[in-house]
Amino acid sequence: MAPRPLIAGNWKMNGQLRDLAELQAIADAGRNGLNEGRDILICPPATMLSASFGILGDVAAVGGQDCHPADSGAHTGDIAATMLKDVGARYVIVGHSERRADHGESDELVRAKAEAAMRAGLIAVICIGETEAERDADATTDVLDRQLAGSLPDDVDGDQVVVAYEPVWAIGTGKTPTADDVRDIHAFIRRRLVDRFGDAADGVRILYGGSVKPANAAEFLAIDNVDGALVGGASLKASDFVAICQASPTA
Ligand code: 13P
Repeated sequence: MAPRPLIAGNWKMNGQLRDLAELQAIADAGRNGLNEGRDILICPPATMLSASFGILGDVAAVGGQDCHPADSGAHTGDIAATMLKDVGARYVIVGHSERRADHGESDELVRAKAEAAMRAGLIAVICIGETEAERDADATTDVLDRQLAGSLPDDVDGDQVVVAYEPVWAIGTGKTPTADDVRDIHAFIRRRLVDRFGDAADGVRILYGGSVKPANAAEFLAIDNVDGALVGGASLKASDFVAICQASPTA
């Protein structure tokens, strides 16, 4: 049985308190059944987590966009998974390609962050994906293999991790892979998860991310082994994000 779909919004470094109105609109849509049969997640900037949690209530979960691998300590400017949990987060994104690129994050560090998330009782949304150069060099599956092997902790199940496949060249560009490519790549990821985690892999949701919009969401979300979406730009506007949620199948 396919896992319950998850539609996640990643606000990245966008959003101020005035934008809580967008979350209020999502919460209102939730009262009309938006979250029936699917999970909804918003990852606002850390500055908005607490207020977002208060507004979204049980309509949508909130999550962080990153965490430090340690539970506390002398790490100025960083945020621990325990702190995210403390203000109501249920998820945290780790290993997003923007962090891998902007901050030189390695697979090993991403794995340590995912482990910190799990220790704190958060679900880690672990991002993987190839760059355009890697795709052009036909190295996509090699890259995903390496990232899956290096970034995922051992012995995980669907209550602890979500995998997000985000081809770097599709993020914020309006370019997307074909539905056939997404089907093949998600099937490949599923096989690798089953090889490593056995039956527990069935419950691990594999999200597609990269230029998901209301116009293309239904096509991506109908593909086998696409258990939801990780949405960047289109998650900033409640009307677009709600339309993407409505395009997802329900469990
Ligand atoms: P866009 O939806 O803006 O392409 O961003 C995708 C993404 O990086 C989500 O984490």
